[in-house]
Amino acid sequence: MGILKDCINNKKITSIPIWFMRQAGRYLPEFRDIRSKNENFVNLCLNPELSKVITLQPLKRFSFDAAIIFSDILLIPYALGQNLKFEKNFGPKLGDLNLEKILNVSDDEIINKLEPVYKLIKITSQDETLLNKDLIGFVGGTWTLLVYMLNKKSPKNILDKDIYKYPDQEKLLKQIIHTQKIHIKKQVENGASIIQIFDSWAGLLENNKYEKYIYQPTKELVNYIKSLGVNVICFPRNIKNYKEYCETVKPNAISIDYEVDPNKIAKNINIPIQGGLDPKCLLLEKTDMLKNAKKYLEIFKNHKYIFNLGHGVMPTTNPENVKILVEFVKDFK
Ligand code: CP3
Repeated sequence: MGILKDCINNKKITSIPIWFMRQAGRYLPEFRDIRSKNENFVNLCLNPELSKVITLQPLKRFSFDAAIIFSDILLIPYALGQNLKFEKNFGPKLGDLNLEKILNVSDDEIINKLEPVYKLIKITSQDETLLNKDLIGFVGGTWTLLVYMLNKKSPKNILDKDIYKYPDQEKLLKQIIHTQKIHIKKQVENGASIIQIFDSWAGLLENNKYEKYIYQPTKELVNYIKSLGVNVICFPRNIKNYKEYCETVKPNAISIDYEVDPNKIAKNINIPIQGGLDPKCLLLEKTDMLKNAKKYLEIFKNHKYIFNLGHGVMPTTNPENVKILVEFVKDFK
């Protein structure tokens, strides 16, 4: 267990905890090297030995306080029997949704299909690189998974309104939540010390639909994760009202996107806050990048704060800039 967990649990820490979403990914040449030899992304996620190497790559280079497992939120639709592939310059492509089939998948089938992920967590959590550091497991938010399963590709910034009209929606939502719980439990049993919920498309939902699609399912997951004795960080990207979200869902920490006004959030929210910095800042020249980072560090000086970005590291980021930024945060007093 590391200082990320200590920060969330109000224990004394000597530096600001730091990790980045998508810290393992295409901006690292050593990731691109493995990826070029493994064209099938899903198979790569289901290869525990290689996934372990990728998970630890950023920790070999930078002083991050946590690793996040190299995996994908879309392995849940995959485990439920929906076809999944990733195409170059397109992103994820899901197959037709056969509800009958999905509702009849047994727990054993789900666990069998995701067993490589649990093995990845087991062997990674035991690696000496993670001594005194946290290993973050994750799931997609129920709403975000529903969007992908029905839309069958990334929605970009428009939502197909037919999603709301899908018949048997309740049954599908129930089955997604059930599968999320299984996946979370197995991750925790195998060594994940924190769970993050990535609700990447929260911002696409209309306000009057939050209760059904985001608040209720996420509350259920948060309570479940807490009952397993681990902390949960929520990332409801672009949601309109972070304060209401925190008061309703009650996560242990909240990850904010880069459109959030950090001053306002620091005033309004009492739980530990994570992230915020625009990933594009890492494409700037060093002094400008650090000026932007310093803004967040100053604003959250008297708040429990985990340094992170407002979304994932961009593939065009220079790893040297990541190094400079991580050192800067670690030395910040
Ligand atoms: O953060 C990490 O370092 C851990 C690994 C991780 C991946 N995906 C690896 C990945 C995590 C936490 C995810 C979560 C995920 N996957 C989300 C939520 C976070 C977010 O970004 O909003 C979403 C929406 C997905 C679905 C997904 N996976 C998409 C839309 C894409 C294509 C995006 C792109 O940039 O092409 C992926 C692919 C993916 N997942 C990559 C990685 C490293 C890129 C794969 C490649 O090399 O082509």
